[in-house]
Amino acid sequence: MSKSGDKLILKAIRREPVPRRPLWIMRQAGRYLPEYRKLRAKHAFKELATSAELATEVTLLPFERYPFDAAIVFADIMSPLPALGIEFDFAPGPIVAEPIRSAADVGRLPEPDLDKLAPEVIAALQATRRALPEETALLGFCGAPWTLAAYLVEGRGVKDFPTLRAFAAAEPEALGALMAKLSELMAQYLIRQHQAGADAVQIFDSWAGVLALKPWEALIRPHLESLLTTVGKAGVPRILFLQNAPHLMEAYASLPCEVLACDWRVDITALQARHGATHAVQGNIDPAILLGGAKVTRAAAERLLADVEPTGHIVNLGHGILPGTPLESVDALVEAVHNERF
Ligand code: CP3
Repeated sequence: MSKSGDKLILKAIRREPVPRRPLWIMRQAGRYLPEYRKLRAKHAFKELATSAELATEVTLLPFERYPFDAAIVFADIMSPLPALGIEFDFAPGPIVAEPIRSAADVGRLPEPDLDKLAPEVIAALQATRRALPEETALLGFCGAPWTLAAYLVEGRGVKDFPTLRAFAAAEPEALGALMAKLSELMAQYLIRQHQAGADAVQIFDSWAGVLALKPWEALIRPHLESLLTTVGKAGVPRILFLQNAPHLMEAYASLPCEVLACDWRVDITALQARHGATHAVQGNIDPAILLGGAKVTRAAAERLLADVEPTGHIVNLGHGILPGTPLESVDALVEAVHNERF
């Protein structure tokens, strides 16, 4: 087998035995790192994310401190959207210049311009791959069609996305047309990320949970399924993440993917008991626990390691690491995971 197939995360994805579990952290290059805050004092987030050189530097920042088993390219779920002519900024979350609120708005979207499909992210992946040790995996990612549509319709992150839910009820066909476009574009984007060196990709459906199961089945499933199927046919390992949506966990588990990534609200032990024969699982320490310091973090990590079967488990938090997280908490998490030996 090639050396790249020996990476711990790839073994975990294939549910092969590992000498210890792999660990990475969502937002591991973010604001809890003093080095990141220093860079942010000089550059806006958008500037960091749209320069391949700066994005590569930020992607690699956490590795100066922590031996994570994967790097995730520093970008945003919005990064590929210039390919659809969409303009946005960050404050701190995405703000869309012209929200999409009608069938006519969807109809006006241009044919995707693949030259604008985040070339800076592709270049950052290539440069990061060259800089990373052989044994460290590289992850690409995208937003799921629904989560991207959430920002495009609502215009910004708003609690429970009421404008989006109203649009879903009033204009399901227009929303479907928008999500079909997004699904096709994201499939191309993930395949390109894989070709640029991403060992696996994570699809973030952060706002999945604002719909009930029935409208989810009708509106969201077809587009997510087509995205995942296209990417799977291209041989790209898929990590599917959903946030704040325990009522949809079983629906997500029925979608085509290799890894089910859940937030801290989900009982990951029970998830693994139900799906461990066919899927790896990823997660799911509550990121807020790390705010409590090294001792509570170590206890939470040890509990997770005791409760979840090691084969087919990628350790992570249940959502992004919070800006105020003490560095010692991350040390404690790394130590707990790395001290385990089988
Ligand atoms: O995980 C990583 O370290 C890779 C980088 C990454 C970012 N955004 C950088 C970022 C990833 C994987 C994302 C994905 C993303 N972006 C998601 C899905 C994951 C999730 O959090 O549920 C979503 C919903 C977004 C949209 C977004 N972008 C929000 C809500 C925000 C502001 C909130 C926040 O966390 O600060 C952003 C801006 C953003 N994207 C920041 C970072 C590091 C903060 C920028 C800063 O001010 O420095």
